[in-house]
Amino acid sequence: MEKLLNLISQRVSAAFEAAGLEKSYGAVTVSNRPDLCEFQCNGALAAAKAYHKPPFVIAEAVVERLDKGDFSMAEVVKPGFINLKLSDAFLQSYVEEMRNAPDFGVNKEPQAKTIVIDYGGPNVAKPLHIGHLRSAIIGESVKRIYKFFGNRVIGDVHLGDWGLQMGLIIAGLQEQQPELPYFDEGYTGSYPEQPPFTLGELEKIYPAASARSKVDAAFAEKAHQVTFELQSGRPGYRALWRHIMNVSIPDVRRIYEDLDVHFESWLGESDADPYIPDMVENLKAQGFAVESNGALIFPVAQEGDKKEMPPCILIKSDGAVLYDTTELATMVQRERDFHPDQILYLADKRQSLHFEQVFRAARMAHIIRPETQMQFLGFGTMNGKDGKPFKTRDGGVMRLETLISDIMEFVGKKVRENQVVEADQVEETTRRIAMAALKYGDLSNQPTKDYIFDMDRFAAFEGNTGPYILYTIVRIKSILAKFGDFAHCAVQTPANPYAKDLMLAMTRLAPALELAYRDAAPNILCSYIYELAGAVNKFYHETRILGEEDLEKQQGYIALIALAKDILEKCIELLGFSAPERM
Ligand code: ARG
Repeated sequence: MEKLLNLISQRVSAAFEAAGLEKSYGAVTVSNRPDLCEFQCNGALAAAKAYHKPPFVIAEAVVERLDKGDFSMAEVVKPGFINLKLSDAFLQSYVEEMRNAPDFGVNKEPQAKTIVIDYGGPNVAKPLHIGHLRSAIIGESVKRIYKFFGNRVIGDVHLGDWGLQMGLIIAGLQEQQPELPYFDEGYTGSYPEQPPFTLGELEKIYPAASARSKVDAAFAEKAHQVTFELQSGRPGYRALWRHIMNVSIPDVRRIYEDLDVHFESWLGESDADPYIPDMVENLKAQGFAVESNGALIFPVAQEGDKKEMPPCILIKSDGAVLYDTTELATMVQRERDFHPDQILYLADKRQSLHFEQVFRAARMAHIIRPETQMQFLGFGTMNGKDGKPFKTRDGGVMRLETLISDIMEFVGKKVRENQVVEADQVEETTRRIAMAALKYGDLSNQPTKDYIFDMDRFAAFEGNTGPYILYTIVRIKSILAKFGDFAHCAVQTPANPYAKDLMLAMTRLAPALELAYRDAAPNILCSYIYELAGAVNKFYHETRILGEEDLEKQQGYIALIALAKDILEKCIELLGFSAPERM
């Protein structure tokens, strides 16, 4: 469907043309004085200069030529503004058309693209912490928005499973259990099928080994050596690595399931490894990769750089490959497997230099086609109420799981106190409200900004929160259930100003979605549904819906709130959460 603002602009442009003026002056905007009018056109002011006539005269001539069926008010205000209110009939037919169109008449991408979204980015054998939360939540929503517009989107979790952390874990384990066959270089038998650790044990090894490597140079050296040997294919280390993966990944999957975050591709840094040798050879042959102090680097600095631009490091002096190397090799793999039009990366904004470096390298060496768009969406930090990165009570890094269960507990208590859901629905209702609180709390902020995690505020049923949006949906569901079958109900002309405001808010869906899509910005969608929910609630409070005696009028109300519910539910689906039946 054509966007409402475009339709109105077309009508006003036609009037400019009919008055003998250039029609481009007819562009209309949403009014910034909603107390005076709904839309406005300032084109007469600009036209006045071009045609050497007073703006007021021009505006009057245009208004005279407007089709009065389209506007309930068309007023010229000095010095030459045209203030407009839409006619009830125009608005009714537009909203009714939205109701009948697929996806509310929002136009899809005319040329569907193939897009890889790299998000999540958990590190194997390290517990997921809240730094990974934002990547998962924002990435999932952006992915759903991209898909909504008709694109083919591949969400790739890009596991961190190939770097020094693996060397640290293996070296740490060797200290604890040196007798294991994995460490015996002369061992020729087959390795045990059972992993030599539980998940709990595994998660303790990394922090201990990491701390130790900072104070014990010999241990750090050993971990580097192990990393290199693992990457070179030493059988015992590879076997241990597979155990680490097998123990850790199901847990990572479960947490993402709980978050309702789903990936099309479960590849990791290690899957890029087979592409490294050829890539490195090519880069050397083309002169991009050069030796420097025993390491192999890819200089990416350019003339005119405003800040220092260090080279990508491909192979360290100890022979191990690094984050930059797997990043570039992953591009090789993605180009080969997906031939993407766009690759979007989500990670902490402190990684922006890394992405700048590898994007440059990929362009210079044509690892990525020139027409492929590469984009880094760096997000800010989730802070505690003290304004510092969110921590546990004893100052440690908060595990994602702990955060989720804390919210579940907090919300669960409310749900039980409210006593509106059956006992067997408490758990599922709690989960949905908790997800809405957590995700909306995050997504309603601009991704690049830091924000403060505040459970009381995020989980409140009033205010700009996820649960408030759910509450609005649930309220509509309950009215619809009381009304009964509403399949025959159609939108009618607005019966009061609140109905009109609600309908106007509905017409702003397409522009909001398009903006959220263009800017990969779920926060725009959050602002939109907050505004729409506000219009719904205002209408609900000011209008007798179920008590309305004029049955035709009542059907119009019902169609209107049913449409509002559908829009809200679609939007929260795109944000990554869903509403319960009651709350
Ligand atoms: N595993 C990384 C981390 O925890 C994030 C990975 C982001 N994606 C990427 N392609 N580099 O910081």
